[in-house]
Amino acid sequence: MNLTDNTILITGGTSGIGRALAEAFYQRGNQVIIAGRRQHLLDEITAAHSGMHGIQLDVQDPADIEAFASRIREQFPKLNVLIDNAGISKTEDLTSDPIDFFAIQSMIQTNIVGVLHLTALLLPTLKQQPHSTIITTTSNLAFVPISPYPTYCASKAFLHSWLQSLRVQLRKTSVEVLELVPPYVQTELGGASQATDPAAMPLADYIAEVMQILSTPNLPHGEILVNRSKAYRFAERNGDYEQIFASRNEK
Ligand SMILES: NC(=O)c1ccc[n+]([C@@H]2O[C@H](COP(=O)([O-])OP(=O)(O)OC[C@H]3O[C@@H](n4cnc5c(N)ncnc54)[C@H](OP(=O)(O)O)[C@@H]3O)[C@@H](O)[C@H]2O)c1
Repeated sequence: MNLTDNTILITGGTSGIGRALAEAFYQRGNQVIIAGRRQHLLDEITAAHSGMHGIQLDVQDPADIEAFASRIREQFPKLNVLIDNAGISKTEDLTSDPIDFFAIQSMIQTNIVGVLHLTALLLPTLKQQPHSTIITTTSNLAFVPISPYPTYCASKAFLHSWLQSLRVQLRKTSVEVLELVPPYVQTELGGASQATDPAAMPLADYIAEVMQILSTPNLPHGEILVNRSKAYRFAERNGDYEQIFASRNEK
């Protein structure tokens, strides 16, 4: 994709990967709109980046998604990049009684339904532009799940599968479909300690590698894969899926 002169909407733009991507695209001369629930962060980030827009959005609420999409279509008719990045991750104990079904439902609504709903509402606008891109954030864990996160891992595997079909269906339109596959990165997705966990990839390093990859034309399979993601992504093909799965899911 061209890294300048786009109108880019980033969900989950208030923190972590989404915020860092928003800042990287802003610095390269793009019109950037960030979305998330935390108004104080939308205010703080947009105040520090003149011309950046922040719009509140709760992807758990279908009515809010509808109203938000209408506003985007009206206010930003040149929207040509949608980065579906908002996501949540919760551990689940499927041996407990009762099982916390609310946690399961909230992950499915945020990580799957919200993504499909917003994409469906904004695709007509994206298709009107000469060059458009959809980037959806999945995970290493789409390819090798870890057992404390059954629904989270499955939600990302769902998106990986869905994106392949979407890419083929849109191949004769102006819309390219990319999959952002983060490894374990220093954000607060899994709690405050993740942001300084030495086992996680530093956020700035991750974003620098992603921007470098994005500047490469014709990404293989439309996947934005940093080096740290490759062992998981290609575990089956490399014949070491069983070993990686076992090492991450010790009994
Ligand atoms: N960090 C990692 O290790 C890692 C690895 C693989 C994949 N990922 C994926 O990367 C994406 C970004 O995560 P992150 O690591 O940057 O964590 P993060 O800092 O917690 O960011 C999550 C973002 O999602 C937004 N969000 C959550 N629920 C929302 C809702 N109901 N409505 C609207 N926005 C919502 C949050 O904004 P508000 O709270 O303001 O709503 C926040 O901006 C996620 O899809 C995650 O699954 C992360």
